[in-house]
Amino acid sequence: MADASEPLKIGETEGGVAKEKSCAGRLGLSHLSGWRTAALLLSLFLCLLVVFAFSFILPCPVRPQYHSSWNHTLPDAVTYDFLAVEDTNEDKVLDVFFIYKDADASRNTCLAADLFAPCLVLTAVDGTDGKPLWERALAPEFDWVECGVKGLGRKGKSGCLVAHADNLTAIDKQSGGIMWQRPRSPVINGNLPLINFPDLNSDGKEDFAVLTYNPEATSFTPTPTELVFFSGQSGDQIGSRVDVEVIGIFAHLQFRTSNGAPYLLLLTDSGLYAVSLGRLAVLAGLDSGMKRERSWEETSDDHNGFVALYPSASLKRVLTVYGSGSPASLLIQTDSSISLLHTDSLKMAWSTNTSALLSTPTFGQFDKDGFPDIMIEENTGNNSKRVRVLSGRSGDVLWQVDLLSWTSNPRPASVLTLNTYSVFMLWGQSHSNQTNEKHSSFLLHPRYAKLLLERRSSAHNIVSFKATLLERGRHAAYLVLSGPDGRQHSSNSEPVILSKRKIKMDVRESKVYGVSSEEPISEDAESSVREAFHRLRFSDTQ
Ligand SMILES: *[C@@H]1O[C@H](CO)[C@@H](O)[C@H](O)[C@H]1NC(C)=O
Ligand SMILES: *[C@@H]1O[C@H](CO)[C@@H](O)[C@H](O)[C@H]1NC(C)=O
Ligand SMILES: *[C@@H]1O[C@H](CO)[C@@H](O)[C@H](O)[C@H]1NC(C)=O
Ligand SMILES: *[C@@H]1O[C@H](CO)[C@@H](O)[C@H](O)[C@H]1NC(C)=O
Ligand SMILES: *[C@@H]1O[C@H](CO)[C@@H](O)[C@H](O)[C@H]1NC(C)=O
Repeated sequence: MADASEPLKIGETEGGVAKEKSCAGRLGLSHLSGWRTAALLLSLFLCLLVVFAFSFILPCPVRPQYHSSWNHTLPDAVTYDFLAVEDTNEDKVLDVFFIYKDADASRNTCLAADLFAPCLVLTAVDGTDGKPLWERALAPEFDWVECGVKGLGRKGKSGCLVAHADNLTAIDKQSGGIMWQRPRSPVINGNLPLINFPDLNSDGKEDFAVLTYNPEATSFTPTPTELVFFSGQSGDQIGSRVDVEVIGIFAHLQFRTSNGAPYLLLLTDSGLYAVSLGRLAVLAGLDSGMKRERSWEETSDDHNGFVALYPSASLKRVLTVYGSGSPASLLIQTDSSISLLHTDSLKMAWSTNTSALLSTPTFGQFDKDGFPDIMIEENTGNNSKRVRVLSGRSGDVLWQVDLLSWTSNPRPASVLTLNTYSVFMLWGQSHSNQTNEKHSSFLLHPRYAKLLLERRSSAHNIVSFKATLLERGRHAAYLVLSGPDGRQHSSNSEPVILSKRKIKMDVRESKVYGVSSEEPISEDAESSVREAFHRLRFSDTQ
């Protein structure tokens, strides 16, 4: 009991003391409780304000809504093999750029720009719904266009450069406005791709150069190969013209060694050559202190600085292999082979014999070794093709299928998934229906490689095709630009259609096609491949 009463007593005394204190400060306390109520109400009010602000005033970070598929149709038009994707309206969904020429639909656009119809129209359509964001009328004829060029205009923005009629025109990717327009007489025969340089004229903006050569020229009728530099900010010519002393050049590309030294690769009828961009800038009287690759420079020609990378009389195409972690390599295609050149050691990693190829090889991860593998399409005659996947490490054939080919044969595409493999998409016609005029797109899942998912396509005459992610890590879709090709002067009886489809959307609309006709397809296998496609999660890195 005593134990129990003790704390009670203490409690009482304490209570007494407390009472005294509270009596003494009575006035203060009532003030205090008033303040408390006010504070409570105020904080309640603030709470509500925040809730309202977030729900009505401040926009929530909602993901943009998009249509799984959309079409943008232009009757009586012709189009060109060009598709670029960039975010122009800053909604985090990439938008699509293409170029067309038509007589009717764009008449007002042409007239508004003081141009006669038909004129060329470069347009950006919204990646979410295919609605046009802007249209830029330009004088015909069209020569080439490149988007994603940096350092353009006074603000050094990113945009598109179009070579058309007499002009080189820089277009703002956000508004479609013209940033500058300059005569292109110095590079009237200039060839794509243009060469991007860091700032050369000390205006703080990237600059560029255009290489001029005539791919039709032979060693009997040589045409000079010239490099002309331009300011990205103003479009004015800078430095002097550089005579690139090489004959028989038919293509070129820009390449960065694994040490970050920028080079220009020249494909000629006697093989592949490289020359340092820094050296070319110095020859033009512009200095930029660009890096050079020591091991390459040691083997370079004393006279013109050219590095012979691969002598061959039957060179066809060279592609940069963007490996994950591995040193930069080049994929070299000749009339009858595909080989991989390690650019650090300048040694050939492997070489595989092939027939003539129908399309540009495509990279993607097929096996698990992390090296980009290569999908090629060999011409096997009689409107047939053999599609193969070669191992990027050894050149061995990992997979193959025989299909009927088709007049317009778009390059296959691949999209990397989070599971370190890519899914591939290719075009053709299955053997099962020879009479059918229509062609199909096929989806290949490397872990279910005995089957393809085939979807009949309604597109005729595909001029350009691209598969890509339209948002970071999601929204894997493909774009098909079909219609009459402006370069082939075909009659425009059919409309130009740009369409976007989500890749997963095709899975349920397609039927299963067995890669080897001998093996029957079980229903289990069919449902598991569809299920595997539905489960795919995509990766940002390409
Ligand atoms: C797009 O056009 C194709 C061919 O005209 C048609 O089959 C398809 O249904 C269209 N898609 C949409 C979303 O309009
Ligand atoms: C070329 O650009 C100049 C300068 O902007 C312009 O005056 C001229 O009309 C353009 N020519 C064509 C054919 O677009
Ligand atoms: C590739 O072709 C070359 C020349 O035609 C030939 O000598 C070589 O044996 C072929 N290699 C293979 C693996 O078929
Ligand atoms: C091509 O097709 C024709 C007729 O269908 C056939 O006679 C010929 O043998 C085929 N050629 C090849 C190389 O398959
Ligand atoms: C072949 O194509 C025609 C026309 O599209 C179609 O009617 C027929 O059912 C197809 N046959 C097979 C076996 O797919």
